[in-house]
Amino acid sequence: MQLVHTVEDLRAALRPFNSPVFVPTMGNLHDGHLALVRTGKPLGDVTVSSIFVNRLQFAPHEDFDTYPRTLQADCTRLEQAGCDIVFAPPEKELYPEPQVYKVQPPSDLADILEGHFRPGFFIGVCTVVMKLFQCVFSEAKGPRYALFGKKDYQQQMVIRRMVQQYAMPIQIIAGETQRAADGLALSSRNGYLSETERAEAVQLSLALRALARDALAAAGALPEKREALEALAMRALAVRGWQPDYLTVRRRHDLQPPSAQDAVTAQSLVVLGAARLGSTRLIDNFEI
Ligand code: PAF
Repeated sequence: MQLVHTVEDLRAALRPFNSPVFVPTMGNLHDGHLALVRTGKPLGDVTVSSIFVNRLQFAPHEDFDTYPRTLQADCTRLEQAGCDIVFAPPEKELYPEPQVYKVQPPSDLADILEGHFRPGFFIGVCTVVMKLFQCVFSEAKGPRYALFGKKDYQQQMVIRRMVQQYAMPIQIIAGETQRAADGLALSSRNGYLSETERAEAVQLSLALRALARDALAAAGALPEKREALEALAMRALAVRGWQPDYLTVRRRHDLQPPSAQDAVTAQSLVVLGAARLGSTRLIDNFEI
């Protein structure tokens, strides 16, 4: 496996290949990232992962400075998973000057849920992903693949739509969320949890499962009952000491609330949630 730090070296390393498979990350890797690498590997002729903590997607009060940087351990794990090239640019390489051109995703998809609670987050994500795609895919002649985890459900939708709207010849593949034995979705931020918080953390996924059950039981009455069911799910977490941002039932195809005109079926819905436990903000979701 080759580790490169500059765009020039990345392009040189990729030149002999036709069909890159790309897994962008911010490092501090867990089995969810490695599953994406393993899923993607057979699709192309070279597998690339980037490790870059992207300042643009963090608000000033968020954890940019403390986000764990674990390059050595990440490279070991990526090599074991079959990754061929790791691109780990210093900040000055990707942002040699202030990034004034930014990708503005549509507000109907990007200013709700995560975008509502983290304003500007998806502008930062789309801008860096667009830039990373330019670095990774510029030499490609065959099919190009990029993989994103479904744990960041809204993120992979926003990126899929960006690729479609800009007619980028890249196939976006969504990987299933990987979970710990108790059901907690794997996340780089789980490492922030104390032992007590780690034991409690699974409650977010349990609350979402309960909300999914309630949504299905409501069936045709879901549009009228939805807000009350969501409030119940948020209260269930709040009484345990969580600070929920949202627990909600949405249509899978556009993340809007189901309306009276929609035929509500399990396949058409997703439940999504974000909540803070102590100082750690966790997100999770289930396609019902
Ligand atoms: O999901 C992430 O780790 C990041 O948002 C991404 C896609 C690597 C962009 O910085």
